[in-house]
Amino acid sequence: MTVFPTQAPLHVAIIMDGNGRWATSRGLPRLVGHKNGVDRVREIVRAAPGLGIGALTLYAFSSENWNRPKTEVMGLMGLLKTFLEKEMDDLHANQVRISVIGEIKKLPTEVAEVLRRSINTTRDNTGLKLNLALSYGSRDEIVRAARDIARECCEKKLSPEKINRDVLAAHLYTRELSDPDLLIRTGGEQRLSNFLLWQLSYTELYFVPIYWPEFKAKELKKAVADFNRRQRRFGRTGEQIKGGRS
Ligand code: IPE
Ligand code: IPE
Ligand code: MG
Repeated sequence: MTVFPTQAPLHVAIIMDGNGRWATSRGLPRLVGHKNGVDRVREIVRAAPGLGIGALTLYAFSSENWNRPKTEVMGLMGLLKTFLEKEMDDLHANQVRISVIGEIKKLPTEVAEVLRRSINTTRDNTGLKLNLALSYGSRDEIVRAARDIARECCEKKLSPEKINRDVLAAHLYTRELSDPDLLIRTGGEQRLSNFLLWQLSYTELYFVPIYWPEFKAKELKKAVADFNRRQRRFGRTGEQIKGGRS
């Protein structure tokens, strides 16, 4: 059975959950779970293009995660910085193009700086789009879009009648990306936790009990294979889809 998608490259979004529980269940500090989680990020990023994935959006830190204990937050920021510093050359050599969604200005200056550098260095790359969701919250993203649209209306650059789905989508952080085709959440929880609420309207959802530090390339392959067995109907009937009617 092939695991390659038949159409356009996939956009896969992942809620990388379960690092803390993975560590705690082994009697280890939570940060060790996050460290092992970074190893999986490296592995999944490497495996993605071979599975026909063109874009990968990783939920690495939510707007609500700022409410965690300060030591955990700082530990996560440190891991992020080291990951980018260590992997930059490799990612660049592999044509990976890095982008970020979320409130970057809330991140510590040195982390924001490494991110800006990574985005700049890789901006002309043509391989996998690696989109990191950092200090990201979907409700804030939508509020921000509404505010920007309102401002444009007040400044008479936009008339309210012209506001449609495309206009709203063009004001979201994800304006350069297609909507995800597949959402994976590891760690067993079956919720979205404020992730891409607008963009996931017709995304296929895949929940696995495996904790993120154990989500190896073969698990990603399974998820893509599962996706390839599904029929996406977008409101139409199954017969319409099979008949190839648009
Ligand atoms: C996901 O793992 C990583 C982040 C949210 C940063 P968690 O840290 O949420 O792990 P659990 O859910 O507590 O096991
Ligand atoms: C979602 O996981 C955020 C990330 C994976 C970055 P959480 O662990 O923060 O989600 P909840 O709190 O269980 O909903
Ligand atoms: Mg969690």
